[in-house]
Amino acid sequence: MKRLEGKTIVIAGGGTGIGAATAIRLATEGARVVVGDLSAERAERVAERIRAMGGEAIGRAFDMVDEPTIAALIQSAVDSFGGLDGIHINAADLVAHRHDTDALDLDMAIFDRVIAVNLRGHLLCTRHALPRLLARGGGAIVYTSSAAAFIGEPKRVSYAMSKAGGHALMRHVASRWGKENIRANTVAPGMVPTEANSNAPAERFERALRGTRSPRLGMPEDIAAMVAMLMSADGEWINGQVLSVDGGATIR
Ligand SMILES: NC(=O)c1ccc[n+]([C@@H]2O[C@H](COP(=O)([O-])OP(=O)(O)OC[C@H]3O[C@@H](n4cnc5c(N)ncnc54)[C@H](O)[C@@H]3O)[C@@H](O)[C@H]2O)c1
Repeated sequence: MKRLEGKTIVIAGGGTGIGAATAIRLATEGARVVVGDLSAERAERVAERIRAMGGEAIGRAFDMVDEPTIAALIQSAVDSFGGLDGIHINAADLVAHRHDTDALDLDMAIFDRVIAVNLRGHLLCTRHALPRLLARGGGAIVYTSSAAAFIGEPKRVSYAMSKAGGHALMRHVASRWGKENIRANTVAPGMVPTEANSNAPAERFERALRGTRSPRLGMPEDIAAMVAMLMSADGEWINGQVLSVDGGATIR
């Protein structure tokens, strides 16, 4: 299905895992894709894979905490493909995240870093993408969150706060610009094996599988399929939502 023919979409955090799978899925559906990542090499590798499949893509380095690089990432979509129709704001700092403990123990430098990337960075991407989307008469923003935002966990307090704050950002954008044809939605993945958790003990995956209603764990492609739908006209009447793609791990 080619639901994204003629669209230009930026993936902010598309070098590996969910973002890389999304870049490939969107390109398969006809989108021209700008793959942004902290690592220029990883971004270019994904873009090269898309080009080898016959799609259109470029890879660009950017950093969620460095505003000029975010502006340049968005500008590269305009320069290379003439405008912007959608952005998947996906990156999270999953390194600092490993030291993200509880409210008493937490090193505040870890908190500041997680908030800077996962929340402030998502706001900056939104600010730079919105004028470009409005210039096209509208567009779609999809944020990546996590069930951690709403299930309540005894650890990862910064991560949960950053993701819950992201929901507020998404709802604000949908409410403020919805009438101007901007759709903002959030995908909340369940546990999906990616580079980010490749060192996790097998027990963690087994526990995650026991916690789902589905017979298997998720794959990055499961999340990518939801992002593609939200970016497409099939998602035209979906706005301001947090959509869990987690095999039924959380039922709300
Ligand atoms: N994998 C899971 O089980 C899972 C579950 C719930 C939510 N998520 C969320 O999904 C998203 C993607 O996670 P993933 O598992 O694919 O991880 P991943 O590590 O494979 O991908 C994250 C990407 O973001 C990039 N990135 C990190 N910091 C950045 C920065 N400062 N600037 C620009 N790019 C940066 C990394 O280089 C990497 O390519 C994250 O928001 C994560 O919180 C993942």
